[in-house]
Amino acid sequence: MFLWGTATAAYQIEGAVTEDGRGVSIWDTFSHEPGRTRDGHTGDVACDHYHRWPEDIALMSGLGVNAYRFSIAWPRVQPTGTGEANPKGLDFYERLVDGLLDAGITPAPTLFHWDLPQALQDRGGWMNRDTSQYFAEYAAIVADRLSDRVKMWITLNEPFIHMAYGYGLGIHAPGQALLLDALPVAHHQLLGHGLAVQALRASGAEQVLITNNCTPVRPGSDSEADRAAADAYDALHNRLFNDPVLLGTYPDLSAYGVEMDVRDGDLDVISAPLDGLGVNYYNPTRIGAPTDDGLPFTDLGITGHPTTAFGWPVVPDGLRELLVGLRDRYGAALPPIHITENGCSTEDTLDDQDRIAFLDGHLTALDQAGAEGVDVRGYFVWSLLDNFEWAEGYHQRFGLVQVDFDTQRRTPRASYTWLRNRLSPDAS
Ligand code: FCB
Repeated sequence: MFLWGTATAAYQIEGAVTEDGRGVSIWDTFSHEPGRTRDGHTGDVACDHYHRWPEDIALMSGLGVNAYRFSIAWPRVQPTGTGEANPKGLDFYERLVDGLLDAGITPAPTLFHWDLPQALQDRGGWMNRDTSQYFAEYAAIVADRLSDRVKMWITLNEPFIHMAYGYGLGIHAPGQALLLDALPVAHHQLLGHGLAVQALRASGAEQVLITNNCTPVRPGSDSEADRAAADAYDALHNRLFNDPVLLGTYPDLSAYGVEMDVRDGDLDVISAPLDGLGVNYYNPTRIGAPTDDGLPFTDLGITGHPTTAFGWPVVPDGLRELLVGLRDRYGAALPPIHITENGCSTEDTLDDQDRIAFLDGHLTALDQAGAEGVDVRGYFVWSLLDNFEWAEGYHQRFGLVQVDFDTQRRTPRASYTWLRNRLSPDAS
């Protein structure tokens, strides 16, 4: 069965940040620091999904999707990231999973969507190798409670973005700007992924995936310098996270003078077979030779295409290009693909024709990739609801459903009706 779903993440929708024993996450800390997010927005309340989840499941039922990708907040399950589980945190996800199953919707939880317990950050976060082991212990706790009902698991969400924005550039929590010195965060997340795969398998998990943010990379020109920079960017953004998982090797990054502490056996753990690769696609990237800000490339931006409210270029064919490229690079080592996020922000209107055009174009590209032989098994729209868009706060609206953040009123947009009709043409 092809999975059609919507995607969300815990910190972006749940709110209830001090309820039922939840611990503090790095996003609580970061969003409360002056100047970190636009207008000082925080996820304290967000979509209040922690209380309104039955209404949100009803919205999914009305949409006609058969799957839901959400994330589990580690600090709800282990408030300080290690040790005893918090039963009330697990109870919440159990209620949610049971509610989804009652509605005939397959739950697809992600174990880490960037909200690390602050207590682990205080010990170095993902710069500290120990976090990998703690992540596996947390995965085991969650799987022990839910794997009789949850069949599909995603370990990490976009380890590249978490490394680059959180530790490299300081745009996201934990707000560190280490540039390439952030590279150990890649290895420790991937090691955590591999160890979590072991924990999930031990609990009987049927399907395990990792979700990577992937982008087709284009050189700004044919010059040698631009092509070398584009290759460096592709290595850091794409291959650094796909190669170890699928091939058991890291791309050669020695030119950048940064060492990752890769120990004997690590790559075997990281490359344990998966049942699928989660791919988040938003746009391609155009890269030129470095200027002197400490990085081996310059992001030139894609021109000549429409842009979303966020300013991101809309290039549907980039999805086809990306998927065919993955198939060509990894061949038999590539498991079936699930598009675990794709979508766009628009102006805050109910008649969101831009989103309809975006989704229509990308679903066409998905069909074309399928026709070219790429095995795609699922597609999840980002996002069900308008939500807390990280450093942009509530300013970027990605929802098929509009949220009024003063009243928490949910109103389906035109794109919701459009997608419903596309998924179940006979129902309307
Ligand atoms: C992705 C994130 C997701 C959301 C979308 C717009 O990088 O995984 O949480 O913010 O971008």
